[in-house]
Amino acid sequence: MLIFIVFLLGAMFPGTHGISLPGIKTTEPFDHVAQLDERGMFTLFWNFNSTHITFEAHVETKG
Ligand SMILES: *[C@@H]1O[C@H](CO)[C@@H](O)[C@H](O)[C@H]1NC(C)=O
Repeated sequence: MLIFIVFLLGAMFPGTHGISLPGIKTTEPFDHVAQLDERGMFTLFWNFNSTHITFEAHVETKG
């Protein structure tokens, strides 16, 4: 069983809009990001407002 470590990076950048991580290019600026894998291979970005939540997942494949 894999143990996923969650870093809620969004909480570390209050007030910023459009978080970017090195090596990851999102289709739109996202205000929240979580890395769901300790090696940074699975990254989830999300935005939300009063009516919608938008998710974008990036999975890095090696080999
Ligand atoms: C919320 O976000 C969605 C997707 O970006 C957008 O279509 C919608 O108009 C937004 N609604 C409000 C109330 O800002």
